[in-house]
Amino acid sequence: MTDVLSIDPRKPEREKIQIAADVIRRGGTVAFPTETVYGLGADALRMDAVRKIFEAKRRPPDNPIIVHVAGKEDVHQLAEVPEIAEKLIQKFWPGPLTLVMRKKERVPSITTGGLDTVAIRMPDHNVALSLIKESGTPIAAPSANLAGRCSPTTAEHVREDLWGRIDLILDGGPTRIGVESTVLNLVSEQPTILRPGGISAEKLREILDVGIHPAAIAEKEFRGIPRSPGMKYRHYAPHAELLVVEGGEEKVKQLAEKFKREGKKVGILAMGRGYTGFITATPGRREDKKMVAKNLFGKLRELDKANVDIILAESMDMNGLGLAIMNRLRKASGYRIVR
Ligand code: TXA
Ligand code: MG
Repeated sequence: MTDVLSIDPRKPEREKIQIAADVIRRGGTVAFPTETVYGLGADALRMDAVRKIFEAKRRPPDNPIIVHVAGKEDVHQLAEVPEIAEKLIQKFWPGPLTLVMRKKERVPSITTGGLDTVAIRMPDHNVALSLIKESGTPIAAPSANLAGRCSPTTAEHVREDLWGRIDLILDGGPTRIGVESTVLNLVSEQPTILRPGGISAEKLREILDVGIHPAAIAEKEFRGIPRSPGMKYRHYAPHAELLVVEGGEEKVKQLAEKFKREGKKVGILAMGRGYTGFITATPGRREDKKMVAKNLFGKLRELDKANVDIILAESMDMNGLGLAIMNRLRKASGYRIVR
């Protein structure tokens, strides 16, 4: 039921893009690589098509989906574009920045989870861009995982979650950035980061004053009115229990020993030296945030496959990509943070 086509991420083969675009035009679902993570795409303007995304992912119907475009000018068909958006688009598109703006009539309400705003981005990946162009329509695409699980950074991850539930997977190899796009709300009084991601707050602050929503820092569960429905749901969760340890290596070791004495199989997500006597997965060293981001979700999946009972995740500072990385870890832990 699900087909897989491997495709050249730099120069996507025309015939393969045509096959995938046919699926989109017929109202089907295609998983495809972007620079951040794999997306699960369908025609953003067709209700029947978008409904298939929600079904395949088991996504709650009030969680809106990002609409992907292949050209900067295409936003105007979909949203009321404020002046500040033009500036951001010129500087950061194509790239991992999603802008939330007032939606236009054409965008069906199923795509926006019933909201009067729409989130839009132009991905920086040749497969994604060719697919959108060839399909002749904007493509709605959440991350191509089952709701609540880690986002997929390889086609294999997509297969693990969605095999038999979607029409086609375009396998363009591992994704470059590894965490999702930054979601920036332009409808609030002050532009506000709803989800930290591939473009850091510092980069945005080079051209405008942005706020950071408390849910984006993810220190604890956000209990206010969610600006982004995604804030309500548990995310990025491996099957094992996960604890974020913000107390350094000694603390990690102590806890690991304690859980081991309790008879638990312990996995450690390490960003430093590593630990002997425990199953350890290292996405990268904490000084190399790009590397950690790129491998983060894959390493969490790896620990899951090792069938550990509990994962202890080391932490890093919240500067640059650190904010996105810590947001994912804290959410994956269900806000169980040891200090
Ligand atoms: O990098 C990415 O953004 C990937 C790739 C595939 O583009 N996509 C992605 O989509 O991560 P998803 O659906 O997994 O996450 C989208 C987030 C959700 O938290 C959702 O609630 C929020 O964006 N969102 C979407 N539309 C929104 C809107 N109109 N207002 C506020 N938040 C919105
Ligand atoms: Mg997602």
